[in-house]
Amino acid sequence: MKTILVTGGAGFIGSHTSLELLNAGFKVVIMDNLSNSKLTAVKRVEQLTGKDIKFYKADLLNKDEMRTIFSENSIDAVIHFAGLKAVGESVEKPLLYYKNNVSGTINLCEVMTDAGVKSLVFSSSATVYGNPSESPLSEETDLSATNPYGQTKLTIEYILKDIYYSDNEWNIALLRYFNPVGAHESGEIGEDPKGIPNNLMPFVSQVAVGKLEKLHVFGDDYPTRDGTGIRDYIHVVDLATGHLKALEKLQEKPGVEAYNLGTGEGKSVLEVIKAFEEATGKKIPYTISPRRPGDAVVCYADASKAEKELDWQARRTMIEMCKDSWNWQSKNPDGYV
Ligand code: NAD
Ligand code: WQD
Repeated sequence: MKTILVTGGAGFIGSHTSLELLNAGFKVVIMDNLSNSKLTAVKRVEQLTGKDIKFYKADLLNKDEMRTIFSENSIDAVIHFAGLKAVGESVEKPLLYYKNNVSGTINLCEVMTDAGVKSLVFSSSATVYGNPSESPLSEETDLSATNPYGQTKLTIEYILKDIYYSDNEWNIALLRYFNPVGAHESGEIGEDPKGIPNNLMPFVSQVAVGKLEKLHVFGDDYPTRDGTGIRDYIHVVDLATGHLKALEKLQEKPGVEAYNLGTGEGKSVLEVIKAFEEATGKKIPYTISPRRPGDAVVCYADASKAEKELDWQARRTMIEMCKDSWNWQSKNPDGYV
């Protein structure tokens, strides 16, 4: 049985991936400083799977804490989710983002090197394609960043590539997620944003549950089929299984490789609202508001590399994404309390 260290495993994507890892027979060690998550998520993953997780409340910025984790466990590979992810906050607090995400990842890689663990799956993002002029986006698309958060992801990708170039024993998968949404079908774990959500699906769910009055659609004058922005929404459980496929790939010693994880299909904001209403029977009141600065017009993946090389494909539909988001939100109107 392999032991996987999941950094940020109490968070949205980390908790869903830990659940899939446990169900697939892996041993899971989670480290998280709980800065954007609750221990309840970890407990619920244990309940859902009937398996134990070894949890460390620890910080990427504290190398002593990280060393302890590696000395107390025989880690085979690391899936690295831990990081800050709010674009707006990163513009206000760039140093916090560079320190937490970039310095934190450097610390992790140093401790991994010392422990002789050289298999890593990293949570990158479609944000490394900057503000793309056309989609679908293949992994060969030019990389750029439009905000400090995106710059941290780009910088970490470059650092990880350089680590591999300096030492070919490393095997690293850079997983570029598009827009993760949905929740585990049980409705026991899901996305629990602090305060008012920045992202579309949690905002819509909170309107549906009555916590927010109405959705603001950011712009209806984009050059798209209905004037609203188009994104590639992917169910978080499909995303989670992509990590297991990436771990399998690392066994083949591929070096460092980037993979897009998306459905390959774009949906507009109005299409998401319609699907949510259809999936849940809830009406989503909305108003058209000005464009949000920095937003891309259209962004969706060419996910054929992951299909070919990882034998992975996103399977869940937009209706399932909406149904599962709603199931989680309605069962947990205030998130993990
Ligand atoms: P999340 O905030 O729910 O999870 C991240 C976890 O990392 C949290 O539990 C947080 O407490 C922890 N963390 C942050 N800094 C830490 C530190 N210094 N030490 C220890 N733990 C720390 O976010 P998520 O949506 O699950 O995202 C996971 C990863 O995927 C992030 O790296 C994010 O940038 C990336 N990503 C997310 C999205 C998205 O839309 N959710 C899209 C692309 C990429
Ligand atoms: C989706 C669409 C909005 C909220 C962000 C990060 C990106 C990645 C994923 C981590 C857009 C519209 C949204 C609202 C709206 N995260 N919208 N009203 O902007 O594609 O990506 O999350 O890596 O880096 O930038 O996702 O969910 O915020 O927006 O109309 O209240 O919904 O304009 O067209 P985005 P999102």
